[in-house]
Amino acid sequence: MILTPTAPEKQTASQCSQFMHDVLTGLSAKPKHLQSKYFYDEQGDKLFQDIMNCPEYYLTGLEMEIFTQQTELLANAIRESGEPFDLIELGAGDATKSIHLLRRLVEQGTDFEYMPIDISGHVISELEANLPSSVPGLKLTGLEGEYFQMLEKASAISNRRKVVMFLGSNIGNMPVSDAQAFCVEIRKHLSDGDMMLMGVDLKKNPNIIRAAYDDKGGITKAFNLNLLTRINRELGADFDLEQFDHYCNYDPETGACKSYLISLNEQVVNLHGKSIRFEKDEYIWMEISQKYTIEEVDEMAIQAGFTPAGHIFDSKHWFVDAVLIAG
Ligand code: AVI
Repeated sequence: MILTPTAPEKQTASQCSQFMHDVLTGLSAKPKHLQSKYFYDEQGDKLFQDIMNCPEYYLTGLEMEIFTQQTELLANAIRESGEPFDLIELGAGDATKSIHLLRRLVEQGTDFEYMPIDISGHVISELEANLPSSVPGLKLTGLEGEYFQMLEKASAISNRRKVVMFLGSNIGNMPVSDAQAFCVEIRKHLSDGDMMLMGVDLKKNPNIIRAAYDDKGGITKAFNLNLLTRINRELGADFDLEQFDHYCNYDPETGACKSYLISLNEQVVNLHGKSIRFEKDEYIWMEISQKYTIEEVDEMAIQAGFTPAGHIFDSKHWFVDAVLIAG
């Protein structure tokens, strides 16, 4: 199912001032940084689609392989005892991977309700409009909002067993300590016996990882620069995009793959009455895409109060969907 593009959603004043606050804080810090969650405006969404289709970016294809080639295994793992459950997907997007699992579960006659959570009302209404006809028989309740608030809402709606899916290695966009805290917070919203299915990109040949975030076509560079365009447009700044280059580094020891924008000259950028000075070669840290070993994934889960119950790998063992039981 493809989501049709629509006009960008209007930002509320508080979303806009939060954006301004985060950008000013990040660009006043030493070293400078911006939050990668702001990459995803309308153009950022399109560029991310292009990244997912570019030859170097293997993550999406591998998790798709898991969802299409090992659907039965996934379905059996999450169906478990056969008790009815709610299948909650954090950041569901257009559900292109999960749709395979949803179809299989419906074909098996499984008693479950799909509850996609997304911050975008557009995403939720598209899913509500399109998924039931793509997967006849699917029960769906869309939840528009922040993950943890919507998990609370899901618990208020039903007391069925919960299976939370957090796919796409989105956990990698948090530094390790934040990822750990995130898993703890998820666990707090679950009861013993509930489950999390977490997609994680694994440590592998460093050249393969680095190339995925520094594609030859320059799409990742454009994706990073687009945040400066967004800041210009929405916050009235005057970044000159020609004055910044993209740099990416993968550290095989820590598993941190980090993206930066590098100031090509000494320059001053104006934003909201403030002058932000850049030295030549100064960087803005834009994003982390953390990679883990399977042992590190399990350890993080255990520390958060989960029991690792299974690992579903792609054929190269580059990516895992980890099955984690709460308790
Ligand atoms: C969304 N997230 C998992 C992507 C990643 O791999 O970190 C975002 C991305 N950034 C650059 N390329 C892809």
